[in-house]
Amino acid sequence: MKISFNTEEILIGGSWRKAENGATLEVINPSTGEVMCKIGRGSKKDVNDAVKAARDALDGEWGRMPAVERGRIITKIGEKLKQYEDELTALETRDVGKPVKQARADAIAMARYMEFYGGAADKVMGHTIPYLDGYTVYTLREPHGVTGHIIPWNYPMQIAGRCIGGALAMGNTCVLKPAEDAGLTALLFARIAEEAGLPKGVLNVVSGVGAEAGAALASHPDVDHISFTGSVGIGKEIQKAAAENIVPVTLELGGKSPQIVFDDADLDAAIPFLVNAGIQNAGQTCSAGSRIMVQRGIYEEVINRMAEKISALKVGPSTDDLDVGPLVSAKQKDIVDRYINAGTQSGLTIAAQGILVDNLPEKGCYVKPTLFRDVPPDSKLAQEEIFGPVQVVIPFESEAEAIKIANGTEYGLVTGIWTENGARQMRMAKAVKAGQIFINNYGAGGGVELPFGGVGKSGFGREKGFEALYGFSVLKTVAAKHD
Ligand code: NAI
Ligand code: MG
Repeated sequence: MKISFNTEEILIGGSWRKAENGATLEVINPSTGEVMCKIGRGSKKDVNDAVKAARDALDGEWGRMPAVERGRIITKIGEKLKQYEDELTALETRDVGKPVKQARADAIAMARYMEFYGGAADKVMGHTIPYLDGYTVYTLREPHGVTGHIIPWNYPMQIAGRCIGGALAMGNTCVLKPAEDAGLTALLFARIAEEAGLPKGVLNVVSGVGAEAGAALASHPDVDHISFTGSVGIGKEIQKAAAENIVPVTLELGGKSPQIVFDDADLDAAIPFLVNAGIQNAGQTCSAGSRIMVQRGIYEEVINRMAEKISALKVGPSTDDLDVGPLVSAKQKDIVDRYINAGTQSGLTIAAQGILVDNLPEKGCYVKPTLFRDVPPDSKLAQEEIFGPVQVVIPFESEAEAIKIANGTEYGLVTGIWTENGARQMRMAKAVKAGQIFINNYGAGGGVELPFGGVGKSGFGREKGFEALYGFSVLKTVAAKHD
């Protein structure tokens, strides 16, 4: 597909322009390892200009616009995104290596976020509060002001959709810094939003390097809220930078999410989810269900059935739309290869691996989906986020042991619970530490309506769903005395 816009331009205050000094970054297609185009490499000055443009837009038409009108524009963006579904899908397929169906699902989800938040914009209400005689007290929900959004490369469209949709619904103006490895759909998104009538400066996009444009945005004194999705290490840096300015942050930092399978589980229902939640998006999913915990009575059966499916998975170029595409970059492939090697070198057993199709481009970033069995819960592979198609299977005996293992990492993002026992479902849902629990299903990445976020090192704050709108706004209490 021909890219029909200038990818080297960034968007500031309604103007598309080159980054300072015309600096660029190469965009690499991880299916082939080839350079497909360039994107702008925004500087601190570009970020300063973007924040200024966002501030001006807040002080302009957007800041005075009734919520219903904002909502209509956001809804319109969603409708336009649907019209551009094929273009968005094709760009993402090549830029980050997602198989076509996955890229399409992301494009559809992005549109759905706009539909959801467009409809929600005029439905966020304050309260009246009973108080002393002679007073009327109420609360107002107001925008933070200028919001900064630093997003990763694994679900570029979904994550841009959820954070920009929520922030716009509450009346904020935004500066978006997409990941180095995933700038293209953010830029196209901004072009589509413009076409839908979003006023100038309400959404600004500065592509570039994390340590440059990202750091400049996170530490900017005129940014009022930061939402970040990415690694724990950079999440800490963002929080420190925001602390200097006493600015609230939302941090979504990934996880090591367990799927806990009890002896009485419906395995016909469970097995496809157990496998898919680990290999979806080549395992580069913050909510990947990558720790498979299985009760002893069905342990061998679950391993055998998972192994059968995993051994049949085909890995190849994203445009071939197979089960698994390449990882996003050579850097990510290297990280994941090292985990697999560390596992085998420490004596762990591989129960199954997928198939690399023939004649793969030499510089493609391919990794075989890999299932390790009998993995000690405290080992590196069972503790650390791998962010590749690698799953570990851990046996357990009792419900108490399951809870201990499930809660035994630094993370707490998502948990899947597979059991037909209703009382156990309720006990487990309360006992495990996670921001989202799925009972007899597993919604990795899905669920526009469902509040999402973590506990522990998975971060804090909630995006997605109606709940996110409280995070993207600030409460003001008004106490009027009138006796
Ligand atoms: P990263 O945390 O470096 O990148 C995420 C975003 O932060 C990107 O937009 C990047 O440009 C930006 N960034 C990087 N350094 C920055 C800085 N100093 N100041 C401000 N912004 C900065 O993640 P990376 O290196 O791409 O992936 C490394 C690991 O992080 C993965 O292997 C995975 O374990 C985890 N990760 C988790 C994600 C999640 O969904 N929670 C998403 C992406 C990565
Ligand atoms: Mg790329």
